[in-house]
Amino acid sequence: MRFLTFAASAALTLSVLCGAQSTAGIEALVQRRLPNHANAFTFSLTPGPVSYVASNTTTKQNDEYTVSNAANGTIHITGNTPIALASGLRWYLTTYAHVDIYWFIGSRLHLAPQHLSPVNGTYHGSSIVPWRYHFNTVTFSYTAAFWTWDDWELELDWLALRGVNLPLAWNGYEKILIDVFREAGFGDAEISTFLSGPAFQAWNRFGNIQGSWGGELPMSWVDSQFALAIQIVARMVELGMTPVLPAFTGFVPFTIGQHYPNASFVNGSQWNGFPLQNTNVTFLEPFDPLFTTLQTSFISKQATAFGNVSSIYTLDQYNENNPYSGDLGYLRNVTSNTIASLKAADPNAVWLLQGWLFYSSATFWTNARIEAYLGGVANADMIILDLFSESQPQWQRTNSYYGKPWIWCELHDYGGNMGLYGQVENVTVNPIQALANASSTMVGMGLTMEGQEGNEIMYDILLDQAWSSTPLSSATYFHDWVTARYHGPATLPAGLYSAWESMRKTVYNNTQINVANAVTKSIFELAPNTTGLLNRTGHHPTTIQYNPAVLVQAWNDFYGAAAQEPSLWDNPAYTFDLTDITRQVMADAFYPLYTAFVAASNHSNSATYNATTAAQTGQQLITLLSSLDALLAASGHPEHYSLAYWIAEARAWASSSSLSNITSAVTTNASYATTQQMANFYEYNARNQITLWGPTGEISDYASKQWAGLISSYYVPRWSLFVEYTLNGSTAANGANPALSAALLAFEQGWQTQIWGEAEGESYVLASGGGELQRVVARVVEGWPGVFA
Ligand SMILES: *[C@@H]1O[C@H](CO)[C@@H](O)[C@H](O)[C@H]1NC(C)=O
Ligand SMILES: *[C@@H]1O[C@H](CO)[C@@H](O)[C@H](O)[C@H]1NC(C)=O
Ligand SMILES: *[C@@H]1O[C@H](CO)[C@@H](O)[C@H](O)[C@H]1NC(C)=O
Ligand SMILES: *[C@@H]1O[C@H](CO)[C@@H](O)[C@H](O)[C@H]1NC(C)=O
Ligand SMILES: *[C@@H]1O[C@H](CO)[C@@H](O)[C@H](O)[C@H]1NC(C)=O
Ligand SMILES: *[C@@H]1O[C@H](CO)[C@@H](O)[C@H](O)[C@H]1NC(C)=O
Ligand SMILES: *[C@@H]1O[C@H](CO)[C@@H](O)[C@H](O)[C@H]1NC(C)=O
Ligand SMILES: *[C@@H]1O[C@H](CO)[C@@H](O)[C@H](O)[C@H]1NC(C)=O
Ligand SMILES: *[C@@H]1O[C@H](CO)[C@@H](O)[C@H](O)[C@H]1NC(C)=O
Ligand SMILES: *[C@@H]1O[C@H](CO)[C@@H](O)[C@H](O)[C@H]1NC(C)=O
Ligand SMILES: *[C@@H]1O[C@H](CO)[C@@H](O)[C@H](O)[C@H]1NC(C)=O
Ligand SMILES: *[C@@H]1O[C@H](CO)[C@@H](O)[C@H](O)[C@H]1NC(C)=O
Repeated sequence: MRFLTFAASAALTLSVLCGAQSTAGIEALVQRRLPNHANAFTFSLTPGPVSYVASNTTTKQNDEYTVSNAANGTIHITGNTPIALASGLRWYLTTYAHVDIYWFIGSRLHLAPQHLSPVNGTYHGSSIVPWRYHFNTVTFSYTAAFWTWDDWELELDWLALRGVNLPLAWNGYEKILIDVFREAGFGDAEISTFLSGPAFQAWNRFGNIQGSWGGELPMSWVDSQFALAIQIVARMVELGMTPVLPAFTGFVPFTIGQHYPNASFVNGSQWNGFPLQNTNVTFLEPFDPLFTTLQTSFISKQATAFGNVSSIYTLDQYNENNPYSGDLGYLRNVTSNTIASLKAADPNAVWLLQGWLFYSSATFWTNARIEAYLGGVANADMIILDLFSESQPQWQRTNSYYGKPWIWCELHDYGGNMGLYGQVENVTVNPIQALANASSTMVGMGLTMEGQEGNEIMYDILLDQAWSSTPLSSATYFHDWVTARYHGPATLPAGLYSAWESMRKTVYNNTQINVANAVTKSIFELAPNTTGLLNRTGHHPTTIQYNPAVLVQAWNDFYGAAAQEPSLWDNPAYTFDLTDITRQVMADAFYPLYTAFVAASNHSNSATYNATTAAQTGQQLITLLSSLDALLAASGHPEHYSLAYWIAEARAWASSSSLSNITSAVTTNASYATTQQMANFYEYNARNQITLWGPTGEISDYASKQWAGLISSYYVPRWSLFVEYTLNGSTAANGANPALSAALLAFEQGWQTQIWGEAEGESYVLASGGGELQRVVARVVEGWPGVFA
């Protein structure tokens, strides 16, 4: 039984304002996504003992809904909150109409049959936790950096239907921060040295980095993002969500001492080897009265912009950035003064903290320090995101954060890396165990992926688990997910089900988290080397933790389904997933070729050295990558599989927004004389994030992608250099080959400032899927018989 009523065990008194108490948001969603069924559903909110209006004196309750047949023939959905109504609607649509809405491929809700089946009696659904959370601060840079309103509208409908009521809302932050800094007396040139580029704002917000490389952040970007933020926050509220809004963190321009000679400030860490002018960020101590002044200014300006829509604030001061002192009194002082500053601005303020630091800097964050740090804030005034609960949960060792409410979060993906991967047992079993723990103060479940990258089923199942008090049966879940996903044919070919069933038990059932604990990347995305690429574990594992032959069999089943049911070639969910599974099979096939090449090209090992084999396998490495690029280019889903799309979205911000001097006095970054130059800067940001990640490759390849165009223009040239230098030169046993290293770096740096479309073969026009994908897959299969057999 999937839905059980659950009495909140961790009753909490959170002082929060909440989203709209009206059915208007869900009715507008139906109009948007199911216009032909606009009158088929009726919604009503059921106030009463289970009140949605959480205040200091009432408790945030679980969301509950019912779905029944009204006498007048409509499907009638009642709920105690607007998000409960949205959750009830999605339950009906997936269970009875077998349609859903997805990242990348978009909404398929309009495919619901004209005649909607009545429900078999009244159905009751209830969440098992009051909060369902979404986003990581860095998702705003890895995934949403260049998103338009259309992208956001899809995302927000996706969130609402999946019951998310607590989304992070970072857009527009810089606009308010700039106003606060100006008011405090900072000049525009000083502010400009603080702000980072469009693709790197998340880490500026965290105080990891400051400033922008390759050009300054245009004020028109700031203004356009702010305009977008007004739309986003308003829609969140309309749908009944409580946006988690930014606050003043303490990070300020380094010239603060010139304006406030008596201010107490310290310098943050050097993050990931960045040059000091881009890190070592100045932090105003929260006990300095100026901190509260700036906080009050920030929160009041934000409330003016968005309205009094939320009192939950995201605020991270020590993300990968250790405190100035480990003294327990100091740590308690920091938090007590920080929450006091928030309360001075908003008496109902609740501080939401990403708990990543307690894991990533576990050496610094001893239990005594965590207890002291959290001890500066009353339990009801804070929510902690246990950020990586499926692999590295911290709630046990901190005794449920010493009584603070916390949210069980699935992280799953680093840097938007792309690999089929999941821990299906951990995300169904572990949160239920956590909730059953007597001392647990768990109040929510959510998603904190660094990038929304694919593997959508793994994110869906966690959000649906938040509505079931027993672990979901993954077998049933996968089966039903497939039914809705490929909606179209009267009967879906069995191969679709068997492919996913096989992946459920292998690709999506990693249990060896010491081998891999997040989405895998392929070795071909890394700077080529004769050593050090294979068997990487941890956050960016290169280990293939399942038998690759099992995935090839699943691919055969999945591909065979279209032979049986050719209409699948016109089904965007099918073409999307076929591209993804084929991509993974080819990525896996790169490994044995690489191993063969390394052995055959090794002059110093006479047992394996074979110049003929080396030349052959070296060539195959390159042609396999070229075939993969062609496959991805033909997918029909450029928004997920192509560099051209990422760059086009970035460049578009230069033309849709005005040049920097139109709306603002920040003329210091008017270094963009033309739209073209500004677009080039955005393109540089887009390219740099997914490759060198930093002015000189500080965390190179962290956010690598398996994209058409990126493979052909970046990975293929790198591997060609590797093959050439390895065949012709001498590489030491430890992989050292200085001439190759220099050639790779020169190539990588040159690539950063290229302009898409200027090199031969680079085009924004990509195949539209369907027939083209069918032809390309057939050609790839024919060309690589050993890979697909
Ligand atoms: C919530 O508590 C604050 C003080 O902590 C108080 O000022 C405010 O009036 C309270 N709100 C409600 C709705 O009781
Ligand atoms: C149909 O019935 C439902 C449930 O009683 C009600 O909320 C709704 O207003 C009715 N719709 C129409 C068009 O009568
Ligand atoms: C509703 O009942 C019918 C008839 O018993 C059954 O065929 C169908 O599977 C049921 N639908 C659901 C979603 O339970
Ligand atoms: C960090 O920046 C401050 C100025 O904000 C400077 O005084 C300090 O020397 C820098 N740290 C290092 C290691 O350069
Ligand atoms: C800084 O502190 C000194 C000594 O207490 C005081 O004389 C001076 O006025 C202060 N300056 C500012 C700008 O507050
Ligand atoms: C925090 O530390 C500052 C500076 O040492 C001190 O003035 C202040 O009283 C402390 N505040 C609290 C709440 O401990
Ligand atoms: C994840 O599941 C595996 C297999 O059941 C288990 O060994 C592991 O402890 C779980 N991980 C966590 C963090 O609970
Ligand atoms: C996942 O793997 C574990 C450990 O091998 C096994 O006990 C469990 O049954 C598997 N679950 C699925 C869904 O295959
Ligand atoms: C990687 O792991 C595989 C399987 O355990 C092993 O056969 C191989 O030797 C390892 N390769 C390297 C380079 O460590
Ligand atoms: C090298 O490999 C080729 C096959 O690729 C084989 O025909 C040849 O005999 C090998 N040469 C030696 C010296 O082993
Ligand atoms: C920018 O400002 C200059 C000088 O005020 C003005 O001539 C120019 O038209 C402005 N540019 C735009 C695009 O408005
Ligand atoms: C290969 O990796 C090793 C170990 O990190 C490194 O020392 C070497 O320089 C790398 N080789 C190349 C060509 O970059």
